[in-house]
Amino acid sequence: MAKVVVVTSGKGGVGKSTFAVNLACAIAQLLAAKGRPGRVGLMDCDIYGPSVPLMIGLSGRPEIEGDFLIPMEAHGVKVMSMGFLIDDNTPVVWRGPMIMKTVQQFVQNVRWGELDYLLIDLPPGTGDIHLSLVQTVPLDGVVIVSTPQEVALADARKGVNMFKLDTINIPIVGLVENMAWFTPAELPENRYYIFGRDGVKNLAAGMNETFLGHIPLVQSVRESGDAGRPAVFQENTPTATAFEELVGIFVKEVEAIKARKAVKA
Ligand SMILES: Nc1ncnc2c1ncn2[C@@H]1O[C@H](COP(=O)(O)OP(=O)(O)OP(=O)(O)O)[C@@H](O)[C@H]1O
Ligand SMILES: [Mg+2]
Repeated sequence: MAKVVVVTSGKGGVGKSTFAVNLACAIAQLLAAKGRPGRVGLMDCDIYGPSVPLMIGLSGRPEIEGDFLIPMEAHGVKVMSMGFLIDDNTPVVWRGPMIMKTVQQFVQNVRWGELDYLLIDLPPGTGDIHLSLVQTVPLDGVVIVSTPQEVALADARKGVNMFKLDTINIPIVGLVENMAWFTPAELPENRYYIFGRDGVKNLAAGMNETFLGHIPLVQSVRESGDAGRPAVFQENTPTATAFEELVGIFVKEVEAIKARKAVKA
């Protein structure tokens, strides 16, 4: 019954994993406040560079029960990552069919328990992992993350178009503008538009898609990611405020998608 949403981008390094981790924590907080703790899952399907464990502060190997992997838990989020299963220092050099099989097996064999939301972090681009997921998991929607700069936007547009293809047809929950401006901690009112201004917001408007919000480029976001303490927990910071607003829009959009699906069915 969980609402399953993938987080992706065209271009690499734009902040998908950072976004996915913080969004999962923000949803967990929201649900806990409504008396529904422990009902968010975060699945890291990036076999090339699984960064979720580090960003959310988890390491080690998951327990196995029969054929099933048991998710680990941090900050009220249940987490499963390819990073728990593959060796940190060995590069993954699998080919297409092997990747498809592995991803399928991976996503089908996790014992999540009852969830309200399952977020899936993906590698950048539009490759084998994306296709095998689309074929294996009933996805409710996709969030596209991009920075506002032109080279990232071009790839974000391709990402949106891929999910809209007739053969794929996954609803777009919305677009997120990460690194929207740089704000120094000592001058929180100052905004420097390093990667351009409102590029993602304008792209969303042009494609008639929902704009989920701006997330500023802040040093503490990077630091907290490296330390496994998601930035969303640093109260009264520009990042926490951004996620507070964003999570409300996200939940509303996903519920609207679910409701439209129910009408069609
Ligand atoms: N808003 C932000 N402010 C500061 N640093 C950020 C922000 N968003 C992401 N970063 C940093 O930028 C780097 C890339 O972010 P991240 O790993 O989340 O990107 P990604 O899109 O998942 O990358 P990949 O394509 O490799 O999966 C990380 O070092 C992260 O800490
Ligand atoms: Mg990533």
